[in-house]
Amino acid sequence: MGKATAVANANIAFVKYWGRIDDALNLPANPSLSMNLAALTTTTTVEFRSGLPADVAMIGDQPATGQSLARVVEHLDRVRSMVGIEERAWMASRNDFPAGTGLASSSSAFAALSLAAASSAGLDLGESALSRLARLGSGSACRSVPAGFALWEGDGDESSFARQLVPPEYWDLQDIIAVVSYQHKAVGSYNGHALARSSPFYTARLGAVPGLLASVRMGLEGRDLLSMGPAVEADALAIHGVMLTSQPSLLYWLPGTVAVLRAVHAWRQEGLSVYFTLDAGPNVHCICEKASAATLEERLGNLPGVQDVIVSGPGGGARLVEYHLF
Ligand code: DP6
Repeated sequence: MGKATAVANANIAFVKYWGRIDDALNLPANPSLSMNLAALTTTTTVEFRSGLPADVAMIGDQPATGQSLARVVEHLDRVRSMVGIEERAWMASRNDFPAGTGLASSSSAFAALSLAAASSAGLDLGESALSRLARLGSGSACRSVPAGFALWEGDGDESSFARQLVPPEYWDLQDIIAVVSYQHKAVGSYNGHALARSSPFYTARLGAVPGLLASVRMGLEGRDLLSMGPAVEADALAIHGVMLTSQPSLLYWLPGTVAVLRAVHAWRQEGLSVYFTLDAGPNVHCICEKASAATLEERLGNLPGVQDVIVSGPGGGARLVEYHLF
């Protein structure tokens, strides 16, 4: 057993995962499709050591505590039980984007942790087994394992993982992220998924997914934003409809969020091809082609309530690197 370090990119879903059919196994109620984000990465080093009394997890410069530590320990337990070892681990993790943002998605974190922990324990998992392991830590993390654009489907523990649809080089699609808040969200996605079913619109949204997924896949394969974009926006609005009508209601939007959504619609009327999507948070991901990226970056930066703009193209998959964080 040695030290291993992995890098993984966060991903943005074009058809989203919102609601589970199995809480323990993180099995989603619907298939989802995403793009890895080159600009948002997590780097994680893990070393299982004999004689360590408990797992230690450093996230950024802080020792993890509470629920974050519990999720890391639980994930390390999965790897320990796969290999049959008892050793505790030293783990350190760092994001290359500002800490504590609503962007610090668990996707890159659990994809990097899965690969670093498996490799430190001497496990050489193939891509689908690694994606399954990442899924158990955080659903969306399974999509950060393959490079580029990924589809997560399957309804059982064995069959539920993400696979690559097309590599990052296939289409230089851009995600221009309007950061309207750096605050941690009040209700994280883990609890949000559990509330989804309480919405009267939950089943209706699930019924719309196959059609939306087909449009997004067709647009992706044909590199055609015009056939993909409306479905991306429709699914984002549908999951936020479910969130808003859950009991209790989940309202993630801030005034800055609405300003960006309105601006995107107005710019589209003027002929700029851009579509928005949002995760369980207030920040807005604006999807466009490379040729419109600079214009959008500038326009978004000038909107009231937008604190920062991050531009990202398609990113790679979870990978091992030669350097270590400790
Ligand atoms: C709205 O993967 O963060 O971003 O499995 O509880 O960790 P857990 O949930 P998570 O949920 C992601 C929700 C989403 C949509 C998506 O990325 O598909």
